[in-house]
Amino acid sequence: MVSRTERGRRGGAALAALLLAALTGTAQARSIPQPGLPPSVGATPAGATGYRPAVNYQLQCAGCHLGDGRGAHASLVPKMKDFVGRFLDVDGGREFLVRVPGVAQSGLSDAELAELLNWLLTGDIAGASRPQAFVPYTTEEVARQRHEPLIDVFRTRAGLIAAMRARGIAIDDGSTP
Ligand code: HEC
Repeated sequence: MVSRTERGRRGGAALAALLLAALTGTAQARSIPQPGLPPSVGATPAGATGYRPAVNYQLQCAGCHLGDGRGAHASLVPKMKDFVGRFLDVDGGREFLVRVPGVAQSGLSDAELAELLNWLLTGDIAGASRPQAFVPYTTEEVARQRHEPLIDVFRTRAGLIAAMRARGIAIDDGSTP
């Protein structure tokens, strides 16, 4: 038999637990960095995964870019296969590859991101677009660039594509006519 005071005490404890849950929920919601900003600004990388670049690519990138980097035109994901290396031929392209949201905000450490970009640009995904004289990304370079927010991704990208065109580079990104 539970006494009336005991029941009251239990009720009080349940209410306190509910209140705590509600408060904790609010605290978590508030810890999202600057919720009013677009997703390309203010996110914090989760840290090192400890995987090799090929695995990190499959886990963090292939969901949008597909396993071989062919992208998905219908979802506005550009084709990287045989094209991504061309960004290194124009001013600002090297920085763009780090600052583009999918890269800058991936859950990878700066060192893993540098390793992933180097793997991407020297392997099958860059394929025919592999740069001739590639200077590998360093951890420091990635650390610096990924925190420079890219506010207008589409305009920046369009500027780089225009610069490629001006240099006579064929635009084979699967989405630009
Ligand atoms: C949620 C989908 C998504 C994920 C995940 C994603 N990307 Fe992207 N990526 C895009 C889209 C869309 C673009 C085109 C630019 C933009 O709108 O951000 C892009 C652009 C790029 C570009 C520039 C190439 C170009 O033609 O614009 C590179 C390089 C790139 N992504 C690499 C990566 C890597 C490496 C990862 C994993 C660490 C990754 N992306 C994760 C969707 C994604």
